[in-house]
Order: sequence, then C-alpha cells, then structure tokens
Amino acid sequence: MSTPLYDALMEYVKKETVPFHMPGHKQGRVLPKEYIENLAKIDLTEVPGLDNLHNPDGPILEAQELAAKAFGSKQAFFLVNGSTAGIYAAMYAVLNPTDKVLVMRNSHKSVYNGVVLTQSIPVYLLPEIDYENGIAMGIDVERLEEVLQKERDVKAVVVTYPNYYGFCSDIEKIVDIVHKYGKILIVDEAHGAHFPFSNNLPKSSIKAGADIVVQSLHKTLTSFTQTSILHLNSDRVDVDRLKYSLSLFQSTSPSYILMSSIDMAREYMEKEGKKRLEEVIQLALYVRREIDKMEGIRCLGEDIVGRYGIVDFDVTKLTISVKNLGIEGPEAEDFLRRECNIQVEMSDVYNILAMVTVGDDEKRVKMLLEGLKKLSKNRKRVKFGDRILFPSLPEMELTPSEAVRKKKVRVPFEKAEGAISADFVTPYPPGVPLICPGERIEKDMVKYIEVLYNKGIKVLGIQDNLLSVCEI
Ligand SMILES: Cc1ncc(COP(=O)(O)O)c(C=O)c1O
Repeated sequence: MSTPLYDALMEYVKKETVPFHMPGHKQGRVLPKEYIENLAKIDLTEVPGLDNLHNPDGPILEAQELAAKAFGSKQAFFLVNGSTAGIYAAMYAVLNPTDKVLVMRNSHKSVYNGVVLTQSIPVYLLPEIDYENGIAMGIDVERLEEVLQKERDVKAVVVTYPNYYGFCSDIEKIVDIVHKYGKILIVDEAHGAHFPFSNNLPKSSIKAGADIVVQSLHKTLTSFTQTSILHLNSDRVDVDRLKYSLSLFQSTSPSYILMSSIDMAREYMEKEGKKRLEEVIQLALYVRREIDKMEGIRCLGEDIVGRYGIVDFDVTKLTISVKNLGIEGPEAEDFLRRECNIQVEMSDVYNILAMVTVGDDEKRVKMLLEGLKKLSKNRKRVKFGDRILFPSLPEMELTPSEAVRKKKVRVPFEKAEGAISADFVTPYPPGVPLICPGERIEKDMVKYIEVLYNKGIKVLGIQDNLLSVCEI
C-alpha cells in the first residue's frame, strides 16, 4: 500500500521538530486526551440531535452563542474553510457587482479573491512600508480619511488587523473614520483570535466596533486547521444575506471534528487558556529581552510603535531580524531546522517569524533561545537588494474580476508595455503588489520591474522573464 502523504506526515512527526508555527495547539499539546481519543468517533454528520451548521437551532447554535459571548461579538458563525471563507462571505454579504470597496494593497489573497467573486471595484490604499525591515506595516489613518472623502461611493472597507507579524494599526480610529463616512468595516483579524482573551495584547477589532470581524482560531488559538469564526458585530449588515453568503462558501457537509474543535478552543480559553496566555505573554517578553542581548539579531516590537501607522503589537509574534548577521531569513530558517530541529512560522528576506502560543512552555522557548544563540554566531556577508520604491499605483483598466476572465498570455518585458496585467506582480519584501490584475502596465513600470528582476530581487508574477497579460 502506498500512502505518500500520510507517510510524509509520520516521517515529520518522528523527527519531533519543535514547532514555532501554527496551528496554535502545537500538535495537540493542550487538547484533552479524551477528545483526541474520540476524534474518529465524533466524525459524524447531521443526524438527529447534532444540528445543522446551515440552519442551526441546537448544539451548534448554542456553541456559536457561547463563542459570541466569549469573544465579545453580537453573533458568531463557525467557519470550516478558514478565514478565507469568512472573508468571501463577509464581502459577498455587503457588496454587489460594480460596488466600490476600499482594500489595502497588501491584503491577503482571500480579500483579492473576494473582490473577484463579488465583481466589485477595488480602491486600493497603500500600506505604510518599513523599508528597513522589509515589512508592509499599518494604515495611515489620515490617508484613509482622505480616500473616503474623495471616493464617496465606496460601500465597504476591508482592513487587515494585525498584520502577519502582529503589528497593529490604530483600529479605533479606523472604526471611527469608516463609520463617520457611513461605510461598513470588515476586518481580517485572521492573526488576532487570541486578542479578546488578554488585556496585555492589542485590542480586538470586535471590541473596537468593526462591523464584521473574521478570525482564524487555528492560527493563534487551539482549534484544528481550517477553523475560524466570522463575528457579526453590528446591525449595519443584513443578517439573512450574510447567512446566505456563508452557505455559498461552506461545505454542505461541515466537519463535526472541526466545528467541535472551535467549541473546545473557546471553552479552553475561558477556563485555563486565559491564564496560560498570560504566562505565554511573559515568556514571549522574556524571549524578546534575551534575543536583544544576542549579537546581530533583534526582535522587532516597541521600536516600530509610533511609526508606519502602527500603534501596538502582539508580543507573542516574534519577528526576529537577522539582517545584521548578514544572512537572509530563509537561510536562518534552514539553519534552525537543520541544526536545532526547530521550525519557525516563516521567513522573509530580513526576518524570521516565530509564534508562541498557549501550546508552548518554558522548556520549548529556551530551545528557541539556544537555537538563536547558535544562529547569532553564524555571521556572513550577504549583499541585500536595494529597497523597493513604490511608483504611483497603475491605472485600472479592467476590474480584477474582468481581468481574470480574460485569456492570459505570457509576454517578454518589452512586449508588456501598454498591456493589461492578468496577474499580480509582487516584489518580496515587502509583498505589496506593484501591479494587480486589470491594471495597465506602463513603460516606467516595465523598466522598474526589469531593474528589480535583474538585481535578483524576488518578484512573484514573473516567470522566465515573462509577464502575464490579458489578451484583448
Ligand atoms: C492576513 C490573512 N488573512 C486571511 C488568511 C486566511 O486565513 P485561513 O488560513 O484561516 O483561511 C490568512 C492566512 O494565512 C492571512 O494571513
């Protein structure tokens, strides 16, 4: 018998690699034994007594109500296809074709896909960029207000809070501004599901008064991968339409394992989890202090607050800059895996990102510190690429939904001039698209992309010197 995927997983498990990545339960460390033992038995379906996610009036409804109470929202809807489905459903519930929606230029793919699905017209807002650390940070609230003042017919605003690295824009001001202009605010809080459970973490956008908030529980809490919650938090949204939208993007056979794991994660946080979280916050602060004593590496945090639209940060997200070691993030990530049996969440050119959650303890955190100590002795000299400057945003000739329906052709740089892009062209870092589908590729942009590409800067959306354009 051949089971390549299962074999690969078991092989990985055998190595006992220490996870500083999601899911937050860290391979089941905080899940009750009885729950794990019964997983196969509770993989059930909509038999009498077990309710129906798409029209709940029994235990699913009760579990959702308990979740709303615990997270502080008006209504909670369980998601079994991650925040991705929640973002689609939120956008589909409030946007009609040709409606304008204000989105951040560095949004997660699901927001861009939401624009395509709803056939809405995006108005892009560039994030503030920390070029030194190569990270797209927060929202300039004054700029947000300017755009809303100009674009009066925008229907909704979608923001990401916090960013992947745990840095937070001024969500209270954002809520005020968006509501002042009578718009609906959807917050992609995929990385902030733990915020409602501690006063030592940034404020959740639920508490700040956003209309819809989508959180991935699997990222920073203890439920299984793909589990999220969409929180409805105001009466500006048509609930029936939201329920219909949810039914479009969720399976008609939602997994009881996944749904129950949301229920279990909520219960855990209300009982032991809150206390654990405070311990973990203290551990994270300790790690941060220890890292800052090491040569050549440092943990980003307080130094970012007050800059780039950032007013707060999540201490449990350890963004460790390895730039001064003269190595690139992926090399540091490989080193930790090979030499120390530690896997971090991700790396970019200048940083590695390690997450500590309620599934971690002092012993593990000390292993991370040992690994980082070894790493800090591993100096090299890499010449980093030049900083990416953002030319002004290109003109949108087709909406993204029109562009993705066109036939795509790949053309060399020189032939791309004047064409309409069929894809995203995104340099890393900071991962903000220079061009989005439907935008005109002007001559200056082609030149700029060519320069980046020739300098060896990673630019997603270019393959073998070719750009994807729409055949018109
Ligand atoms: C900012 C952001 N939003 C949304 C998502 C989608 O979340 P999920 O994986 O729960 O579908 C992600 C996933 O990585 C993300 O980073």
